Amino acid sequence: MEVMDAIRARRSYRSLAPAEACPGLADDLAMAASLAPSCFNRQPWRFVFASGDALEGVFASLSRGNEWFRAASMVAGVYTKRDLDCVAGRREYYLFDTGMAVGMMLLRATELGLVAHPIAGFDEEAASRALRLPEDALLVTLIALGRRADLISQVLSGHQIEAERERPPRLPLDEIRTLLDSPA
Ligand SMILES: Cc1cc2nc3c(=O)[nH]c(=O)nc-3n(C[C@H](O)[C@H](O)[C@H](O)COP(=O)(O)O)c2cc1C
Repeated sequence: MEVMDAIRARRSYRSLAPAEACPGLADDLAMAASLAPSCFNRQPWRFVFASGDALEGVFASLSRGNEWFRAASMVAGVYTKRDLDCVAGRREYYLFDTGMAVGMMLLRATELGLVAHPIAGFDEEAASRALRLPEDALLVTLIALGRRADLISQVLSGHQIEAERERPPRLPLDEIRTLLDSPA
């Protein structure tokens, strides 16, 4: 798959069907993430993959509106710590670098024909406990892994159903990029 095809195909679908949750998949996704760039190659990202019985505690931490997440076959918990990466004045790179690694993971999952949907809507303390994270870890996101279901999930709200059918709109390029071609 071409990179641009994966970028276009990646979607945060919420109607999930089972996928095979095996250590090989966790390794494949973690490997893709590990190839991301990071400040001084500090690699601040850490991942915990939960499947089977280990998912119950994770599902119990979900916020309202994220009931669809319970159909995930595997969940990747992404965590980091501030002191694992560069700090340059106001610029703290641990979240930035971890986000880049997650981007790589999402694209690889897409290439494998999977849905990989990151969320912020969960109780951080409960999810961290369920994933047995170290005390000082910052759990940044939970990623639902599964296959895209043929039918739209019954638990979705109106706008979530809409987002299954069409990608949520993006800001116009004019709002997010500026071109400079001569000195001020
Ligand atoms: C940091 C982050 C947090 C998110 N939290 C949630 C969430 O709690 N629940 C949810 O259904 N989707 C969540 N999403 C998915 C976004 O809603 C989705 O990426 C956005 O609407 C764009 O859609 P697309 O990914 O299909 O292009 C989150 C995505 C990110 C990156």
